Amino acid sequence: MKASNELHERILELKRKLNAVIAVHNYQRPEVQDVADFYGDSLELARECAKADADVIVLCGVLFMAESAAILNPERTVLLSEGGAGCPMADMIDADDLREWKQRYPQAGVVCYVNSSAAVKAESDICCTSANALQVVESLPDNEILFIPDRHLGHYVSTKTDKRIILYPGYCPPHQRLKPRHIELARELYPDAGALVHPECSAEVIAKADAALSTSQMIRYVKGDSRNAFLIGTEEGILHRMRQENPEKSFHLLTTGLLCPDMKKTTLESIVRAMEERRNIVKVPEEVRVRAKHALDRMMDVS
Ligand code: 13P
Ligand code: SF4
Repeated sequence: MKASNELHERILELKRKLNAVIAVHNYQRPEVQDVADFYGDSLELARECAKADADVIVLCGVLFMAESAAILNPERTVLLSEGGAGCPMADMIDADDLREWKQRYPQAGVVCYVNSSAAVKAESDICCTSANALQVVESLPDNEILFIPDRHLGHYVSTKTDKRIILYPGYCPPHQRLKPRHIELARELYPDAGALVHPECSAEVIAKADAALSTSQMIRYVKGDSRNAFLIGTEEGILHRMRQENPEKSFHLLTTGLLCPDMKKTTLESIVRAMEERRNIVKVPEEVRVRAKHALDRMMDVS
């Protein structure tokens, strides 16, 4: 196996050769975050990919993120860093399931969390991310909203709006692991620390935290807050940037094992392989792409 600085050099070479940019989600391994041209939460990645000035976008994350990049950039080649990196939550609903739910609730507007396939986005009125879900819901004229697929994010939004939110029973396995007792125990150990969780956590967990935020919102929060210790309730990859940007502060995961196996599939070797062999090209059939783009564009117009 090549040393990591050799791989890093090779990635820079391939970037020049392919005229590529590397887009990296906040949950990726530290060494992968360190080769990013841009990194961020799902909303920031979608925005940056939409304006990327490159022939190739290498998406280090999971399939739905690469699909979003391909939907927004039909003229560019989008490579997923690791072909098998999916999202179990996104796989909890397909287009047939959604069509069935839409028949059950024909009066409801459909808000689709971006953690979903292109085909599901194409069946939806508008997309949202964890950074803008409430804003998106409030932007619709409908009083009833079918919110898919994350029941926890949907429930969190329902506590902040007067609209009726119909929840689909999807969830994120790593975030679902977090329990209220983990926050209670961590607060006993670090009584002066701020506690931040992701809105993919359950309502009982969110109730015990100081705030429920998207990954990049958390990164901005810890920078701006005067406390010097934080308890973090999301995937462990986020700690890398928090620690790098705030060396004087301390960060503790709320419990062990807050790890998304799919987010961890990408390594520097996978990036080199994907770029050298132009592997894992993500393409969305044009008829699906156009409808899914409409749902993503509507979201980006709102936030
Ligand atoms: P954000 O980075 O948009 O908060 O999303 C978290 C997540 O689970 C991505 O899979
Ligand atoms: Fe999917 Fe959860 Fe992993 Fe994000 S952290 S990719 S929502 S399983």
